[in-house]
Amino acid sequence: MSEASACHGVASGDPLTTQVIIWTRVSPRIAGSDVTVTWKVATDSALTNVIKRGSLKTGPSRDHTVKVDVTGLKPGTIYYYGFSVGTETSTIGRTQTAPATGGERLNIALVSCSNFPAGWFNAYQAIARRGDVDLVLHVGDYIYEYGPGEYATEWGKTVGRVPEPPKEITTLSDYRLRYAQYRTDPDLQAAHACAPWMVTWDDHETSNDAYKDGAENNNPSTEGPWNLRKAAALQAYYEWMPLRNPAPGKSFEAINRTFDWGDLATIVMLETRVLARTFQLDYATDLEPGLFDVTSGKPVKITDPARLSGLDPRNLPQGVMALPDIAGFKEKKLNDPSREMLGESQQAWLAEALTKSVKSGKKWQVLGNQVIMGRVTSPNFNAGLPPTVLEAIAKARPQTKAFFELSQFDVPFNLDAWDGYPAARERLYASAKAAGARLIVCTGDTHAAWANTLKDAGGEVRGVEFGGTSVTSPSIADTFANFGLEGAALNELITRANPEVEWHEETKRGYTLVSITPESVRGDFMELDTVKSKTFLVTKATSWETTYGPKPQGLVAV
Ligand SMILES: [Fe+2]
Repeated sequence: MSEASACHGVASGDPLTTQVIIWTRVSPRIAGSDVTVTWKVATDSALTNVIKRGSLKTGPSRDHTVKVDVTGLKPGTIYYYGFSVGTETSTIGRTQTAPATGGERLNIALVSCSNFPAGWFNAYQAIARRGDVDLVLHVGDYIYEYGPGEYATEWGKTVGRVPEPPKEITTLSDYRLRYAQYRTDPDLQAAHACAPWMVTWDDHETSNDAYKDGAENNNPSTEGPWNLRKAAALQAYYEWMPLRNPAPGKSFEAINRTFDWGDLATIVMLETRVLARTFQLDYATDLEPGLFDVTSGKPVKITDPARLSGLDPRNLPQGVMALPDIAGFKEKKLNDPSREMLGESQQAWLAEALTKSVKSGKKWQVLGNQVIMGRVTSPNFNAGLPPTVLEAIAKARPQTKAFFELSQFDVPFNLDAWDGYPAARERLYASAKAAGARLIVCTGDTHAAWANTLKDAGGEVRGVEFGGTSVTSPSIADTFANFGLEGAALNELITRANPEVEWHEETKRGYTLVSITPESVRGDFMELDTVKSKTFLVTKATSWETTYGPKPQGLVAV
């Protein structure tokens, strides 16, 4: 809302049984001035039957954003809300509270990776049009930090979707301006206005491949200390997103929180980036070569110190080769139990939340999770891809060629995913098992869609994962398409190499509708034919379902 016109729309989120957050932003005529905003909540869309109202001041200290935690509402009820400054009024939003008991169906629209310059927000428009969405679950990469000319910004130039400010964002005012730009998008505004959202961030709300003490895309010598950049990014996030501010004494980083939806489900929002995540491993630096005896045809690592001391790596005798020491990498680094995703205190909090949820009779435990949890081992690309494609990639992308060499050795496909932190994943699974949880893991990050059956190290099913594709961000299939590889071939290679992956689609943008009932949870994978035109078609690619049973069940196609 502006004192002159509607600019950034309205939003709501974090519904409890009697509370919900409502949000807007005032764009003042006079920069720097404080403004009094009034708000009202009603039971009708014309805002005539008002049941709650109030006013508050906003100003430059919070970028003129307005966030109200409306209390005293009725459980399981639809409400409408709006704001005004003087005679100027905002658009009207629709929201709802969580039911206190029961709950026959919960429809969640799962989204992630909404990159403004990479395409039109058609997925958001499709969600707003449905009319049956109870919650929008955004699991991260709501914004991207890049400047013009950087990742996925090329197409945006042709239609005026150029990042604002026109640089990589690093300061509080930069992050604020980036949110303000995204929120001018009418499709995003419509998705916010249609239902309450539950949000958690991934890396791009701060910077690419963020972890506790830094990020791949943060150079402290030119972009300042990580802690300052992170603090700026998180402040803008809490100003602009419709989530409840942390409880007193809790830091902005502690975005992990839970919601109950009647007797149906508990939704647990996780934080796996800035609270505790250990630095990502990197094959280029963490995978050391070892000397192997290859005389039998099967490489055997030479560990005898006497034999090793007699070998000159620059002049190895026949039958001895220097090869990547995959077993050593897995044993010493990948499986190191000290590698963290949630951190000790969040893991303990999660264990308690799952136990409490199951004990209080909730059927399903839904995790709002950032990066893929299912095991995804790299397929053997050198054996699986056509020679013409391999040659083209080798010429243009030496790093990808090096990874393809490694891909014959059963290594994780993505070390930034839970696969890079297997001991932390087992800790999560162990707490789910101890609680008797039925995990429904809702994930983003990969710009590709996944239907995964999750199994612990002992091979027991712990739950299922719906990995939603991106709203707009391109996937690796877009990169590989430049070298003549069909998306379907890539999907097939990845699916065939991975027993936990039931279905996988790399080439389409869209959203996933996760429908939860007491008996089953179904994921409808919704695909757009394009994000490069405002005229688009949305179709259901496939549906996968898990049914409630005495033990967690995997996914089956329906
Ligand atoms: Fe992303």
